[in-house]
Amino acid sequence: MRAITYESYGSDDVLRESDLPTPKVGPGEVRIRVTRAAVNPVDWKVMSGGLDALMDAHFPVVPGWDVAGVVDAVGPDTPEFAPGDRVASYARKGVVSAGTFAEYVSVRAEDVAAVPGGVGDDVAAALPLTGLTAQRVLETLAVTKGETLLVHAASGGVGYLASQLAVAGGARVIGTASPTNHDKLEAVGVIPVAHGDGLEARLREVAPEGVDAVADLVGGVLDVSLAVLREGGRLASIADPTVEDHGGRWVWVRPDGERLARLLDEVAGGRLEVDIDRGLPLAQVPEAFAASREGSARGKIVIEVSEPAVR
Ligand SMILES: NC(=O)c1ccc[n+]([C@@H]2O[C@H](COP(=O)([O-])OP(=O)(O)OC[C@H]3O[C@@H](n4cnc5c(N)ncnc54)[C@H](OP(=O)(O)O)[C@@H]3O)[C@@H](O)[C@H]2O)c1
Repeated sequence: MRAITYESYGSDDVLRESDLPTPKVGPGEVRIRVTRAAVNPVDWKVMSGGLDALMDAHFPVVPGWDVAGVVDAVGPDTPEFAPGDRVASYARKGVVSAGTFAEYVSVRAEDVAAVPGGVGDDVAAALPLTGLTAQRVLETLAVTKGETLLVHAASGGVGYLASQLAVAGGARVIGTASPTNHDKLEAVGVIPVAHGDGLEARLREVAPEGVDAVADLVGGVLDVSLAVLREGGRLASIADPTVEDHGGRWVWVRPDGERLARLLDEVAGGRLEVDIDRGLPLAQVPEAFAASREGSARGKIVIEVSEPAVR
């Protein structure tokens, strides 16, 4: 099968297009014929060796953890799925190795969700990692109706979904983003505030009493977060482990097919919108990584591996 691989840690120039054996499908696994994958910052962070202290890598690595496609085969005793099912997954495994930027990927059935009819493959591929992260951050913060939540990086992949889910739950959401993204946030009921110098003062203008909870989805914002957090407020970060020194929680997303199915239902019901910037072919994963790293995309970058079942 065609796959994007790298043989050693490095930058985008270590990426190659390769021909690999189609992965086996073990007990409790489903093999997905990939139609769409999606890029996340963690993909190029892993490639740079940034997660080596946490996870072993078996080279050649096929990068990519988000996927949508069609079940091609199921392993022994895997009655949850059947060939032909449309599915999506956050397909992270215990070892960095056989990822989703390939024609086929085998995934544990419990990490896979069926894709509802009204959801296209691009959206189904762009949702898993960011959606599950957004959900986990909000559960960690236990934001309740009427509370004020500050979301740092509200226009990003995780932030846009976390903001929408928090608004739907009845929170008043203040989201930081570049001014070019303020319209996008206002359209989903978020109060936008520009990040950068003077952020604390701008936040005080919209939340003079402070905020009940802070979701840090970018890192480097600890001082501002602590300054605007009310006494007894909650803080969680997906990008700054030092929040744990200040009573906050460092949150890590986990693969979870059942939770992903609930998120896909929200999308199918028109209650959650996934923002897609562009699609690029498999051969352009290096360009996709560069755009993600530079922050030049205004939504998710989807990798087009084969013809989707539903657009
Ligand atoms: N721990 C976990 O489980 C976990 C899970 C997912 C992601 N992450 C990490 O979380 C981060 C965000 O992921 P993502 O997928 O949402 O990334 P993304 O889609 O690339 O979005 C990043 C966003 O950060 C915003 N930004 C840049 N500088 C900022 C600043 N100083 N203040 C506020 N916002 C700023 C940008 O918004 P503007 O363009 O509007 O400026 C951009 O939209 C990454 O570092 C990723 O590796 C961790």
